[in-house]
This record gives sequence, C-alpha cells and structure tokens, in this order.
Amino acid sequence: MCGIVGYKGKRQVKNILLEGLKALEYRGYDSSGIAFKNDKEIQVIKSVGKISNLEEKLEKEKLIKCDMGIAHTRWATHGGPNEVNAHPHTSGKVTLVHNGIIENAHELKERLIEDGVEFKSETDTEVACALINSYYDNDMVKAINKACKDIVGSYAFAIMVEGDDKIYGVRKDSPLILGVGEDDLFLASDIAAIIDYTDKYILLDELEIVEISSDGYAITKNGRSVDKKVLTADLSSEARDKCGYDHFMLKEIMEEPVVLKKTLDPYIEDLDKLIDVSKYEEIHIVACGSAYYAGMIGKSLLEEKAGIRVVCDVASEYRYKKIIYDRKTLVILISQSGETADTIAAMRKAKEEKIDTLAIVNVKGSTIARESDMQVFIEAGPEIAVATTKAYILQVAIISLMAYKAAIKKGLEKDKNILKDFDILPRMLKEVLDRREEYLEIANEIYNKEDIFFIGRKIDYSICMEGSLKLKEVSYIHSEAYQAGELKHGTISLIEDDMPVFGILTDKDVREKTISNIEEVKSRGAKIIVITNEACNKYDLEVVVPKISDYCQAVLVVPVLQLIAYEVAKTRGCDIDKPKNLAKSVTVE
Ligand code: F6R
Repeated sequence: MCGIVGYKGKRQVKNILLEGLKALEYRGYDSSGIAFKNDKEIQVIKSVGKISNLEEKLEKEKLIKCDMGIAHTRWATHGGPNEVNAHPHTSGKVTLVHNGIIENAHELKERLIEDGVEFKSETDTEVACALINSYYDNDMVKAINKACKDIVGSYAFAIMVEGDDKIYGVRKDSPLILGVGEDDLFLASDIAAIIDYTDKYILLDELEIVEISSDGYAITKNGRSVDKKVLTADLSSEARDKCGYDHFMLKEIMEEPVVLKKTLDPYIEDLDKLIDVSKYEEIHIVACGSAYYAGMIGKSLLEEKAGIRVVCDVASEYRYKKIIYDRKTLVILISQSGETADTIAAMRKAKEEKIDTLAIVNVKGSTIARESDMQVFIEAGPEIAVATTKAYILQVAIISLMAYKAAIKKGLEKDKNILKDFDILPRMLKEVLDRREEYLEIANEIYNKEDIFFIGRKIDYSICMEGSLKLKEVSYIHSEAYQAGELKHGTISLIEDDMPVFGILTDKDVREKTISNIEEVKSRGAKIIVITNEACNKYDLEVVVPKISDYCQAVLVVPVLQLIAYEVAKTRGCDIDKPKNLAKSVTVE
C-alpha cells in the first residue's frame, strides 16, 4: 500500500528511484510518479498503472540534471487512480509524496480554498502539500511542524521545496526510514526500496523531522535535535529474489518448513523462553485478514486445551467497540508487517487502558513490535507476495505452542510428547508440500468454477476461512467458508450440481458431524473435495495429510489449500503476487 523512495547523492537519481519503486511494487499500487530537483526547478512526471509505464514516460522526457528526487507508488484512497491524483503533488513552492490518510482533509481544504488556494486533484495529499506551503516562509522545518499540528490522520511525507537543497521527511502512524549510504542518503517507507544501496538505516519516530542535505542529515523533534541509532537491516538479496520459482507466493510456501524450524527451534530447546500466557484470565486476540484467522486457531486451542477465555476479533471492529477489560486481560496482536493501521489502533486502545499487550509479529522494527509490551517474533523473513502464506503458518505455529505451554502450566495437558510433534512438524510439512502433483489435480478440477465453498467445524472452520480467503484473493473465484452445521440454515440453497465444496475433516470430535453435513451437500450435487487426516475413500477428491496432535494439525492442512489456491490462480493467468486492489501492508483504515 503506497510506497516512498527519496534519494540525495551523486549516483543516477532516476535509476535509484525507479529501482526503489520496483522493489516496493509488492505492496500494491495503481499509479506512480517521480520528482527531480536541482537549483532551478522541480520536474514532476507521473503515470497510471505499472511502473513500466512511468519508465516509458521517463525515456521520452528530457530530464533535468539533478542530485536529488522523491518517488511514490500510490494505492488510491481519496480520488481514483489517475495521473492527476498520482503523487508527487505540488502546491506553490512545495512538492511532496505521501503515504497514509489525512482524515481532516476536507476541513483543511475548505480553509485553504478560503485563503485562495486552488486544487487540481481530489487527493488529501495535495491538501497537505498546500498546507505546508501556506506555512512556508524560508524555514521548512517550522512549516512542517505547524502543518503536523493541524493534520489529523496518518502520514509519511517526503518533501522538497524550491529554493533549498534538501529533502525533508516526517511521519506519524505510517513508516518512514532514513537510509544511510557511504556518500549518499535515502528516504524510504520500506527497507526493501534501498537495500541494494545500503543496509544501514535509521527508524524515524513519530513527528521527528529529518533534513537531508549535501552535508549529511539532521533529525529534530519540536525544534530539538535528536540522536538516533543507525541500525543494520538483515534483508538478504535471496529473500527478494524468486530463486527460480515462477512466483514469490510459491517460493514463500516452499520456504515454510525452513522458517517454521527457525521460529520453533529456540522454544523447543527451552520452552521457558516462550511467554507464558496462563496467568491471564481472559485473552483478546486482535488482528486483520489471515492474521485474524491464525488468531481463530489460537482461540480454539487456548480455550479447549488451556481453559482460558478468549475473544478473537478483527482489529477494525475491535478498535471502535466498547471493550470490557479486566485487569487480568491480555491483548495479543498478530501481524506480519507490524504496520497494519487497525491492529496498531487496537493495540493503542488496550495500552491506554493499561492492559498488557503481546505482539506476534514478523517485522522487528515495526510499530507494533516497538510499541507492544511483549513480543514473540516469527522468523518468516521478508514476505513479498501480497497474499500471506509462510507468515500465517508461523503465526499459527507460535500461538499453538503458546496454548500448549499454557495448558501445561495450568496442569491441563499431561502429554509431554507434544513438544516432539512441534519438533517434527517442519519435516512433515515438507512432505506435505512435496505432494504438489496431487494439489494440481484438484486445481485442474476447480479452476473454471465460479463459486466454491469450504466447510468445517471448530478448528476446521478456521482453516476453511484461510483456505477460502487464499483462493479468492489470488484466483478471483468467489468462495465462502461456512461452519458445516450452519449451511442448512440458508446458504445450502446456493449449492448446485458440480459446485466444488471443500470439506475439512481433522478434528476427531466433530468428524462424523461434518461428514453428515458433507453428505447433505453431496446429495444436492456438490463436487466434494475432502482434506483430512484419516482417509474417507468415498468422495470425488481427497487429500490425506499426516495425523499429528491437535496443536499442530492446522500447519499440515492450510499449506495444501495455499498450494491449491496458487495452482488455480496460475491456471487462470492471474497476477498471483500482486492481486488486483490488494496491498501488502494495510497502513490506512
Ligand atoms: C491475506 C493477507 C492479509 C493480511 C492482513 C494483515 O493473504 O495477507 O489478510 O493477513 O492484511 O496483515 P498483517 O499481518 O501485516 O497485519
């Protein structure tokens, strides 16, 4: 979702900015643009669609000689995806790019119009640009500070102004880093944009303003200079390369056994290292999308095995609901990126109430990682495909291990051998992934269908939710996940001849019940595809995954659904790594 790159230095500005934008493509975007600046002028070039369109445009233009520039990929919020709305925006002397949303844009715009400002685009970004320009009186830091006081919302800005030789950056609720090269400096919303040039970076904190000039950089907050630590990124180039795979999604699925081992091993060696959640009387698990579905699996295990009351909610609802907290409540935030706006807001809501917060997170320097009280990191490494796969699996594995530890602590789990199941899980997962031919066969049976259902009960229903989401987001086939027993209360009317219905059958307590529901749809003509840990041998298609303890079973089932979704999307010719309308890191509400 939107990306920023800025550069000041002696290398070819155009190439660095373009390469940076390409590295950010995975975040999702619908237009892009660049601004170059020298002593005399600022040149802005924008384009709709792929970055290759911008590249073509740049080829045709006579570009100014310069040593600095800013660039942006836009994922439309205020105003459609067209060239006028694309960033950079210019107002008076100021040109800027922006990630985030200005919530009071309408009100600020009216005020600026009254002052005689004219607007060209429908964007909130142009409003911010005009606001900063209205405060600019040869002191950009002062103007930015004033504007930040007026703006309500989230932002990361990279700003250039006629008449000085600097790039400025500031952020609130949207990430921005300063890249520190040997002889040059960068601004970026994501380290991926600049990692080819430097792995040294500084994380800008809220409302810190960075000034990048030929002499170096200066960071201030409220007019006072701030000393910041230079960090080193551990983003290998291999992680950003498809390594021979056709798509990042496939590469990332195939990486699951390795990253699973890396994530679990330290806790298998010493379970005491894992945070103990057994002392809490109630746990709220809050997340979005797939991370929320991982949370649903955590809820089942924490309740059923460890006897802890758990509320699992999507962050966009939780943040606005009346929540009744108890002192003994723990809020668990699950997030791959650690930058999801709604999950951040949910975390802050709990913190305001002085409730303990625990983050299960992948990106170490992210807002959620930094602001939560406790952290458990998953070791997924960078996830480039927009649809999460390996990070989801690690989220499930970690919360399941937490449930196991809590169950032991509470004396409700006597089976010490379960840790061995976690230990062999990566190897078993590898065996499941190696059976790709079987999943391709299923994909070939369903790729041309319009509607697909996933049904299951309890944990199997949570698995259905993720299987259904994965399929619809990458293949654009409409699909729905249903609690198997609920279908007959209305939705069963949609079942038609040959409509694929996935039945997930891993929970032995409800297996027979789900089989009865599968029979109900089968008798109405559905094509039944069963994913189970115990063969049924009576349905159209069947995948039997190895049986393992309840704590680990989902980790052997969801990857099958991920691979089926991948194969279906590939057969349908979809843009698998960057599905339409989606963004990797959802930094707006
Ligand atoms: C789906 C997907 C999203 C994310 C969700 C939360 O494949 O990737 O549903 O899971 O946007 O993102 P994070 O985990 O970064 O908070």
